[in-house]
Amino acid sequence: MPESKATERILSGEPAAEDIPLETSLRPKRLAHYLGQEKVKDNLKIAIAAARERGEALDHILLYGPPGLGKTTLAYCIAAEMGVNIRITSGPAVERPGDVAAILTNLRKEDVLFIDEFHRLPRTVEEVLYPAMEDFALDIIIGKGPGARSLRLSLSRFTLIGATTRFAMLSAPLRDRFGAVYRLDFYDLEAIEAILRRSAQILKVRAEAGGLREIARRARGTPRVANRLLKRVRDYAQVRAAGVITEAVAIDALLRLEVDHRGLDEVDHKVLRAIVDKFAGGPVGLDTIAASISEEADTIMDVYEPYLLQLGFLERTPRGRMATRLAYEHLGLAYPKEQSSQSTLWQ
Ligand SMILES: Nc1ncnc2c1ncn2[C@@H]1O[C@H](COP(=O)(O)OP(=O)(O)OP(=O)(O)O)[C@@H](O)[C@H]1O
Ligand SMILES: [Mg+2]
Repeated sequence: MPESKATERILSGEPAAEDIPLETSLRPKRLAHYLGQEKVKDNLKIAIAAARERGEALDHILLYGPPGLGKTTLAYCIAAEMGVNIRITSGPAVERPGDVAAILTNLRKEDVLFIDEFHRLPRTVEEVLYPAMEDFALDIIIGKGPGARSLRLSLSRFTLIGATTRFAMLSAPLRDRFGAVYRLDFYDLEAIEAILRRSAQILKVRAEAGGLREIARRARGTPRVANRLLKRVRDYAQVRAAGVITEAVAIDALLRLEVDHRGLDEVDHKVLRAIVDKFAGGPVGLDTIAASISEEADTIMDVYEPYLLQLGFLERTPRGRMATRLAYEHLGLAYPKEQSSQSTLWQ
């Protein structure tokens, strides 16, 4: 496997096969162990306490945000706090209206139905969900032609939790049917450090605070990336450094993974360099950037762009993406727009 592909996988927020055994052991099961995202947690705790007090199902919830920030984990925690079962599926997995009807009729009172990649639900399935979410009812058509009639089946009161990386792709009527919409943000450094401390403890890895800080700084504010880097650094520490993750060991190990000190990998650099070198800093459309570096536009939009925007390296304008002064500085280049932006300031 070429080096660049390996690095690409290490930093992407999307799940990789190597994460699966690790994710199950590291995934917090209760809200108390779900670190960070304080605002979302506070709101959820109130909603959960109120629903429990009334003995009702929780309102439908939509979670959105970049991959690896803990949407699936949060859905599990919500079901655990409510003390109910959770049924998991995803947009692409429910192909036909019949598939979703079968799932819905099997739900018990207050159960959670978690639908991942909600934006990829087929339109015909969406239509079955409307009455299910709103009235807890399923409309079934019996027969064909002029003799056909519709039958309304009632469903148990359940909670739908939808997760998506693409809020904008959901239709307005679908969005409106969620009682609460929570956006997960990138985690701050302290939260990522706390997640790493917890993970190191579970994995029984000896790590010094300075070592974990170095990993946290490169984790793109994303728990999945943090855990993946921890695992790589642990291997390095074991083979090369008596098993302890010190600051120096972490720096060494991370250098080998070709992750820079802000957590940018080769693809991030390619995106920034394309805008700077080929398109004079932008504005340039995302598809054009994607084509010029042979990457999928969707991957750039879901995985790379959100973090570059968060760092303030990219700016989204109506005419396309622009590289900012911070991006030029990060690449060690002089910012060419200095002159023009100063003159606009003085106008
Ligand atoms: N708040 C958190 N505290 C501790 N660990 C977390 C937290 N959020 C996520 N994690 C860790 O990160 C991993 C990835 O989280 P999760 O699978 O929930 O992300 P996701 O947002 O559902 O991603 P995707 O968009 O790819 O489905 C989890 O297995 C868990 O170990
Ligand atoms: Mg998920």
